[in-house]
Amino acid sequence: MERIDKWNNRYQTTIPLPPPCQVLANYTHLLPATGTALDLACGLGANALLLAQHGLETFAWDYAQAAITRLQSEAQSQQLHIQTEIRDVVTRPPQPATFDVIVICHFLARQLAPALIAALKPKGLLFYQTFARTTVTACGPCNPEFRLAEGELLQLFQALQPLIYHEEKDIGDTTQGLRNEVLLIAQKN
Ligand SMILES: C[S@@+](CC[C@H](N)C(=O)[O-])C[C@H]1O[C@@H](n2cnc3c(N)ncnc32)[C@H](O)[C@@H]1O
Repeated sequence: MERIDKWNNRYQTTIPLPPPCQVLANYTHLLPATGTALDLACGLGANALLLAQHGLETFAWDYAQAAITRLQSEAQSQQLHIQTEIRDVVTRPPQPATFDVIVICHFLARQLAPALIAALKPKGLLFYQTFARTTVTACGPCNPEFRLAEGELLQLFQALQPLIYHEEKDIGDTTQGLRNEVLLIAQKN
């Protein structure tokens, strides 16, 4: 089965709307009051909904039609305007200098990093959260290609200024803390 079919099937059936990701929900205070924001590979668009609730002109892209349909319906019911698009973000990444905020959660396409950096406007913010290879419990994708090596997110976005970086690995009391995932908020000069 094609990956896109797998995602469409999931969104048509089982997945409830998840909460916004921690990298955004815990640091909403860093968002600008106005501007453009993109939820890239948005899925059901919990992050896009938060961005729109915050007052940003919000765009949400995903190649799974079923996800975009559900997001449109949720945005309508919350009386929010989100500019949704069924879009393959790998073959059609964002244009240079178009967004003040880009949010990416649980999606990793390393080759997109230069285009994402270019797509931020000056002082623009990247919010990124995804799965690490170093884990303490089983969750997320089985394929290590879809997981970050230690320090990799910092390295991919080294052209940006890091504001928040969170990677706990498997150090200390692994029953506590935010494990299995890495968070980065970084700003363009
Ligand atoms: C694990 S889900 C995460 C969804 C959302 N960001 C979240 O955190 O709830 C990964 C998403 O990436 C989307 N995706 C994968 N490859 C894509 C591509 N090339 N272009 C656009 N969307 C893609 C899938 O359709 C799916 O919705």
